[in-house]
Amino acid sequence: GKGAAMVTAVAQRLASQRKEIDDTLEAFTLSSTQLQQVKERMRVELERGLKKDTHHTASVKMLPSYVYRTPDGTERGKFLALDLGGTNFRVLVVKIRSGIRKSVRMYNKIYAIPLEIMQGTGEELFDHIVHCISDFLDYMGMKNTRLPLGFTFSFPCSQTGIDKGTLVSWTKGFKATDCEGHDVVDMLREAIKRQNEFDLDIVAVVNDTVGTMMTCAYEDPKCEIGLIAGTGSNVCYMEAMKNIEVVEGDNGQMCVNTEWGGFGDNDNIEDIRTKFDREVDQGSLNVGKQRFEKMTSGMYLGEIVRQILIDLTRRGLLFRGRITEPLKTRGIFETKFLSQIESDRLALLQVRSILQHLGLDSTCDDSIIVKEVCGAVSRRAAQLCGAGMAAIVDKIRENRGLDHLDITVGVDGTLYKLHPHFSPIMHQTVKELAPKCNVNFLLSEDGSGKGAALITAVGCRLREQEQK
Ligand code: GLC
Repeated sequence: GKGAAMVTAVAQRLASQRKEIDDTLEAFTLSSTQLQQVKERMRVELERGLKKDTHHTASVKMLPSYVYRTPDGTERGKFLALDLGGTNFRVLVVKIRSGIRKSVRMYNKIYAIPLEIMQGTGEELFDHIVHCISDFLDYMGMKNTRLPLGFTFSFPCSQTGIDKGTLVSWTKGFKATDCEGHDVVDMLREAIKRQNEFDLDIVAVVNDTVGTMMTCAYEDPKCEIGLIAGTGSNVCYMEAMKNIEVVEGDNGQMCVNTEWGGFGDNDNIEDIRTKFDREVDQGSLNVGKQRFEKMTSGMYLGEIVRQILIDLTRRGLLFRGRITEPLKTRGIFETKFLSQIESDRLALLQVRSILQHLGLDSTCDDSIIVKEVCGAVSRRAAQLCGAGMAAIVDKIRENRGLDHLDITVGVDGTLYKLHPHFSPIMHQTVKELAPKCNVNFLLSEDGSGKGAALITAVGCRLREQEQK
């Protein structure tokens, strides 16, 4: 009768809605062949970044760090460290003891960097930084001590020495004017001069990946790779000097900051990018740049999710077809929320209450769909990172002519640390795509601070040797 016909109609509509959602998320599923291709293409770009002829136009920049070795436990002293490029700006004092009482102690203070300063003028940005340092030195009663300083500056820097680094381009949420193409150490020194209150002895510029690798290598000598899966996404590793064509010399090793976030900027992964990735890119501060980072890091995953939710809502498949203000708000899905939504211990009712908290009214069905969308986006991110990592470890293995490589990756970043599925999926992907490598992941504790101090210690020693 009529009732049965209605039931059938409802069932059919549900089935077709289901199919529309599945089809949308299908674009985020990568086959093992596709992941293998990502690994191979990453490998090609790593090589292009290392070679003299292709370095200047390479999408993966492969920047030399002038860090020639990981720590050996003899590092010691008291250092200042700065950490710029994550969520906050930090100033630290780090004390390193060597020998049998080997230890690292730190004091730090966190300072917010207001959006208008991140995106204002370069002078304002560096004046603000110096102002924070001044506050910290007052607080510690250290205005008159001139400690050697390591500056963790987590952006692509083209270095010609351990204490020289020209900002290639801003990434993530920064866009201060008149900085690109300038030396960050010079900009810091000039701001200190402008303030004319104290002096600093700047010894090293450090990428956060390098700091993370050094921190973990201090505990585990097998650590020769640093990974950040946080606001941004990046990797560094120890490369043979003879392969780094842009640096003079063929002996020993040097840590290379890959800047793999730029992978794809030469259009070589367009086949796996979706229309949602393109929308996120269009709404970003650096259109067309950092395409891999925009598929794999905390600053953008929530944005991809939001673009998908908007699309599904427009098509009447979600939120009763109503696009509300919160859904239109850039940046509402922070890593912390994505991590909560995907937590397996959370009941759907709790997912609904998180959405409610973000201002999104959801039905039970809505909350299921949102969770699926988050899952598809974060799974792809973890697999892509895993494919990239597989390229790195296999390259190191081949460099050394080994059939089997045992290696440790030092890791930091909110996505890696907070998200319930990101790390296991990434580990699994590395295993599948680099079966000849046994890759161990070691969480870093405050790599940016500790690592900068360790590198500064090495830098001071080098300087002393040069003076002799
Ligand atoms: C961005 C930066 C890179 C940094 C990473 C993680 O990719 O360009 O230098 O290491 O974010 O913070």
